[in-house]
Amino acid sequence: MPSRILRKRRLIEGQTTELVIEAPHIAAKAKPGNFVILRVWEEGERIPLTIADADTGAGTITLVFLLMGKTTAHLDTLEAGDDILDLCGPLGRPTEIHKLDGPVICVGGGTGIAAMHHIAKGHHAAGNHVVTIIGARCEDLLLFRDELCSFCPEVLISTNDGSCGRQGFVTDLLVERLTEDKTVAEVVAIGPVPMMRAVAEATRPFGVKTTVSLNSIMVDGIGMCGACRVSVGGETKFACVDGPEFDGHQVDFAGLAARLTSFKEQERLSYEEFKKSHVCQCSK
Ligand SMILES: Cc1cc2nc3c(=O)[nH]c(=O)nc-3n(C[C@H](O)[C@H](O)[C@H](O)COP(=O)(O)OP(=O)(O)OC[C@H]3O[C@@H](n4cnc5c(N)ncnc54)[C@H](O)[C@@H]3O)c2cc1C
Ligand code: FES
Repeated sequence: MPSRILRKRRLIEGQTTELVIEAPHIAAKAKPGNFVILRVWEEGERIPLTIADADTGAGTITLVFLLMGKTTAHLDTLEAGDDILDLCGPLGRPTEIHKLDGPVICVGGGTGIAAMHHIAKGHHAAGNHVVTIIGARCEDLLLFRDELCSFCPEVLISTNDGSCGRQGFVTDLLVERLTEDKTVAEVVAIGPVPMMRAVAEATRPFGVKTTVSLNSIMVDGIGMCGACRVSVGGETKFACVDGPEFDGHQVDFAGLAARLTSFKEQERLSYEEFKKSHVCQCSK
């Protein structure tokens, strides 16, 4: 069913975009951790994007996407008032959120900060003390800082170049916090695979429950095709229906990283083709 884009905001020029989309049926059921699968044009591929926010009253959902290749570039050509051809969701198991005995630390890296924001909001609504740790290469690439500061009692920041917060990685701040505070009940991490892997390794010695959200390649999103399979604790799981969140200490991150690059050459070629045809259309 087509869904109208109500607002479009460029969060990082040429890199990251936020869309607020009219989707009352999805907004009514969306929970933190859920995602949608969308298709932009008739012959286009289906891609999953996390629901970064949902407003039941307004009947809208918010998506934030990084420009990666052909489909996200195509999506980025749409403006407020345009329709997304198909939008299916909410999909995936929602984040397990309940009242915890100690603080929950939500860690976000890159575009994963937007997805983490919805989960942090959910923990806050459940009455948990939420500490967020966000990181990026430099200050200009930090997303959702104001949104997180509006409800989180503690927002800790790291940048690789030291332009904002602590110079270094999110894991430096995380290890420091876990060393000082033995009451932390859970760590949730969303971001690039190497970041989630590093978070899981950092928390392992502390024995703190660590949840990661896996971004494996998805096709149908309903457990039928097997494209999204991942190995967790030695068992094959489908990220779309068994996840996308799993115990970070059990995930085979090397296997996930390898599967994510399976179609690298085809993706590169189809993006090159898209860029050429898009330039041609613009110059007509
Ligand atoms: C549950 C889930 C939630 C996600 N949420 C977000 C989000 O909120 N924001 C965001 O920017 N990205 C998110 N992603 C990743 C996003 O789906 C990919 O960046 C997107 O599909 C890239 O498509 P493309 O055609 O633009 O790029 P391509 O050039 O086709 O691919 C670039 C890379 O994106 C990944 N990818 C490609 N096709 C798919 C696919 N069908 N499913 C999953 N990954 C794919 C692969 O790693 C690939 O190497 C999520 C992925 C999953 C599984
Ligand atoms: S995407 Fe097809 S089984 Fe998960």
